[in-house]
Amino acid sequence: MDHHAKAFDDGTQTKLLIYGSYLRAWLKVFTHTPHYKGEALNFFDFFSGPGKDPDGSKGSPAILLDELAKQRGEIFSAKRDIRIYFNDRRKRKTKILAEVCQEYNLPWVPTIDSQEFEDSYADQINLIGNGPSLVFLDQCGVKHVNKARFQELARKDKTDILFFFASTHQKRFNEQFDNDLDIPSDTPIQLVHRAVADQYRSWAPDNYYVGDYSIRKGNGNVYGLIFGSGHRLGMLKFLQTIWDEKVGGDANFPMEASKMQGSLFDGFEKTKLELVQDEIQEGILGGTLRTDLDVLTLCLSRGALPSKAAKPIYKEMREAGIIAYERGSAPRISEIVLKEPRNINLRNGG
Ligand SMILES: C[S@@+](CC[C@H](N)C(=O)[O-])C[C@H]1O[C@@H](n2cnc3c(N)ncnc32)[C@H](O)[C@@H]1O
Repeated sequence: MDHHAKAFDDGTQTKLLIYGSYLRAWLKVFTHTPHYKGEALNFFDFFSGPGKDPDGSKGSPAILLDELAKQRGEIFSAKRDIRIYFNDRRKRKTKILAEVCQEYNLPWVPTIDSQEFEDSYADQINLIGNGPSLVFLDQCGVKHVNKARFQELARKDKTDILFFFASTHQKRFNEQFDNDLDIPSDTPIQLVHRAVADQYRSWAPDNYYVGDYSIRKGNGNVYGLIFGSGHRLGMLKFLQTIWDEKVGGDANFPMEASKMQGSLFDGFEKTKLELVQDEIQEGILGGTLRTDLDVLTLCLSRGALPSKAAKPIYKEMREAGIIAYERGSAPRISEIVLKEPRNINLRNGG
């Protein structure tokens, strides 16, 4: 089915909202950091489509160009060059995209390619990470981001990736795909995309962070986005993006509501958040998590937003008199922790 034959549905709009919000945050980071001075910022959109849907709603290329137009002043002040690469195998779509790009009349002229993904990826791979890079892989199904490709991208310096994955298809036709994933057919449908993310997480190199967002479509199928970054700040920004008021969590449906209420059906299992909270508490008490940076890093590596996972635990431990919590030395959960970590002091001096 042609993704651009009909207006984007709600799930697609949410996916694009996340892409746009993350893109905005990513650009702000790189127009305000002294790091990688003089290096161009690179955007790769390998499944770009024509730029918009039949109703004129903006697709990923227009979302990028909009954001560049909005942050044009900051990009110039930071003396950043911008490189943009779009690809779609349908020439009909890239022709329309070329017109859309022209309308923006930006100082940075995108490269527009029309190749099979494998060929365009082979052409671009050496350019990815050559300067801070954001790679968007809005594939239609499950095929293109296999283990080898994921690991190749995850090892790229200064590179964040965001890709779509049709997780229900993977579960349903698991044996038919040779993309290295294995999602058993008894995986609960509401957790299927998280199971996919867990597999990518298990393939990630050390100190690499993987986030996920699940999208239930009108037909009940669950798909989603997977995010990957070698930088804690990148992961924190992704988690903040999906938990902000516009998106509102790690799924567009109540993924674990029944578990939190301990329904008999779900067997009183703990939620993902509760499991991370147990780890935080045990780590602080056991002395393996000594600073708020250790705790933040644990949250990020489990794909949990620190303000959801760590903040309530700090509060609980402070109220129970377990951790010292004086103004000016209390453990924190925001990005300041990356620059100025604080020790977590146990009251018994441990
Ligand atoms: C889900 S759509 C992408 C939508 C786009 N991000 C947007 O916001 O409009 C996937 C696109 O990838 C293209 N496509 C599908 N398979 C491809 C392949 N193997 N290589 C290159 N492009 C492909 C399709 O023509 C389609 O436009």
